[in-house]
Amino acid sequence: MTEVTARAPSKVIVLGEHFVVLNSRALSTAVSIYSRATAEDGGEGVIIESKSMGVRARLDVGSRAPDPRLEPFAEALRRLRSMDYDLAPARVVVDSDAPPSAGLGSSASTVAAFLLAYTTLVGDPLNKDNLFSITLAAEDVAHGASSGVDPATVVYGGTILYSIKDRVIERLEGPIRGARLIIADSGVRRSTAGPVMSVIELRRRLGQPAELIYSAADIVALRGIEALKRGDAAELGLLMNFNHGLLSAIGVSSPELEDLVYAARAAGALGSKLSGAGRGGIVIALAPEGSEDKVTGALRARAPWVLKPEVGVPGAEVVELTR
Ligand code: MEV
Repeated sequence: MTEVTARAPSKVIVLGEHFVVLNSRALSTAVSIYSRATAEDGGEGVIIESKSMGVRARLDVGSRAPDPRLEPFAEALRRLRSMDYDLAPARVVVDSDAPPSAGLGSSASTVAAFLLAYTTLVGDPLNKDNLFSITLAAEDVAHGASSGVDPATVVYGGTILYSIKDRVIERLEGPIRGARLIIADSGVRRSTAGPVMSVIELRRRLGQPAELIYSAADIVALRGIEALKRGDAAELGLLMNFNHGLLSAIGVSSPELEDLVYAARAAGALGSKLSGAGRGGIVIALAPEGSEDKVTGALRARAPWVLKPEVGVPGAEVVELTR
């Protein structure tokens, strides 16, 4: 029996969510909160078992998945079939440390881990570019059109400057110099599609003033990667605060998110903002060296959970192969 375990990191959008859907650039980083997939050969058909969803089912490329939450995995197999993969029988167990619908890209990272484990098991591991495009297609079928920033971050890893038009424009590796990224959960769950559709509608209705905000967000993301390269955490923090204001302007903040954002700033964060689709989910704060504990403490007093992951970590990878 052959067994393969692959993992993919979660993602945190540092600057530019929503604006990236309509062609502005965004800055996103891979964080050390992992989804894992373990594939073993044998059995009948391709069986998927998701620990976090509590489901087990056989995926059939000819029909819809028995549970809508498994549809991205079924679509991933359809894409493999169209690339002439022989869909050999296997059992794949997937699991994620990232809570769903929190803004961490857990579905993209679980699908990427699934695809990498399965294609490695069948002897033809997807390269990064194909892993990205199939993860993106699988995500789209389940969640509606997306910019692709989530799949790109979890597949390529590091910290990326991304746009729909050019995909990964630039990629850096490793941590943010001089500061630590802290994630706090608002505890409020929401879908990504709702806020995305309402922002697109707002831009259509408002026209020029909204377009100006998109241009500002685009430049903010570019300035962000430049600040990262210089190790200028103070400038990055300022850009995060500014970006949060732009996200409030387009209507995706909420009282719970504002509370966390301002608590982090009052505790000494260089910057803080909502991250992901908003109206719930997570906020991120950039704590300068020496203020980490204070910022973490202020967030812990308000949030169901707070994490301090490594950032700019490698993308999807095989971590174990036994024959
Ligand atoms: C979701 O993580 C980020 C959004 O910008 C949607 C997308 O880019 O696909 C809200």
